[in-house]
Amino acid sequence: MKIFAYGIRDDEKPSLEKWKKANPDVEVDFTSEILTAETAPLAKGANGVVTLQTAPYTRDALEILNKFNIHNISIRNVGVDNFNFKDLNDLKFNLTSVPVYSPNAIAEHAVLLMGRLLRRIPEFDQKMDNGDFTWSPTIGKEYREQTIGVVGTGHIGRIVIKILQGFGAKVVAYDVYHNPEIEEQGLYVDSLEELYKQSNIITLHVPLFDSNKHMINEKAISEMNDGVYIINCARGELIDTDALIAGLDSGKIAGAGLDVLDDENSVFGKVWGSIDKIPNDKIKNLAQRLNVIVTPHSAFYTETAIHNMITTSFDSNKILIEGKKPSTLVDTKK
Ligand code: NAD
Ligand code: COI
Repeated sequence: MKIFAYGIRDDEKPSLEKWKKANPDVEVDFTSEILTAETAPLAKGANGVVTLQTAPYTRDALEILNKFNIHNISIRNVGVDNFNFKDLNDLKFNLTSVPVYSPNAIAEHAVLLMGRLLRRIPEFDQKMDNGDFTWSPTIGKEYREQTIGVVGTGHIGRIVIKILQGFGAKVVAYDVYHNPEIEEQGLYVDSLEELYKQSNIITLHVPLFDSNKHMINEKAISEMNDGVYIINCARGELIDTDALIAGLDSGKIAGAGLDVLDDENSVFGKVWGSIDKIPNDKIKNLAQRLNVIVTPHSAFYTETAIHNMITTSFDSNKILIEGKKPSTLVDTKK
């Protein structure tokens, strides 16, 4: 049995070596390149592929895998929004994900973004760089004075809620599915409009679908409180960047913590030398602001997460190749 892996980074190699040692019956080969039509032929001879990328999985790349009789794809991450399920079904692919590699990694990052904005850390950092060791005017706000709207109470959203409650914040939540634990605490509001109305901070933890693309748009922002903070550690396309920039310009939005951005692949994953050289005016606009914190889709990036991403994705691919049904199988027929 052979598995070919795409996009393997140095930080993943120790966990991959451990997995190989525990699975001597599986031949593993890999590349640091992501899966594209150009790199798809590298998988020739394999029975399955393991991948991780934020770029779209194109039909032509999948067709080449198909030509080599490869029908098993295991991604090392949660979100499946960069696949076209019709392509997967047409080409008879089985897909697995790693739905729970470490929700704490992302939840902690989201709460840290909030805290850095509330305590005006980017402004303090700039003051420190200028040798300015004074307090004023960078006075902060406390979590316990905030009402925080958590959109999506799945694996990540629920950990966000637990951490925020530790800080004494008031939490309201919205989800199309009601989790019994969150329901029991009486945190759900009936609509996004109600969540926007009550919250000083809004944090997104929902998957991206065609139906919720740009859910944070001009209309949604107009329904929010003046001086709201917006945190996005889910998917960039959930927010209309033009509307976000307009909201920041008008002061309606006090700040934003953005681990993901619309069109992030034009900027993330590369070294630009300085913000001025970023080839995307909207992302540059956001990254230059002291009340906006941009991180390069790194909320997931912890040692624990990386280890679990490797182990679960390779386990899942092996199970698929053996013709069995892993618990991580994605329902692409939905
Ligand atoms: P999850 O599936 O456990 O939870 C998602 C929740 O969203 C579910 O409770 C679901 O009912 C709810 N939901 C779906 N559509 C909704 C809608 N339109 N309105 C309200 N609620 C809706 O997923 P998770 O593990 O909590 O991850 C959430 C998202 O976070 C992922 O889909 C992925 O896009 C993103 N993510 C980002 C990173 C990162 O590094 N920034 C890492 C992992 C995941
Ligand atoms: C996910 O797991 O869905 C992420 O967003 C992490 C990223 C490395 C793709």
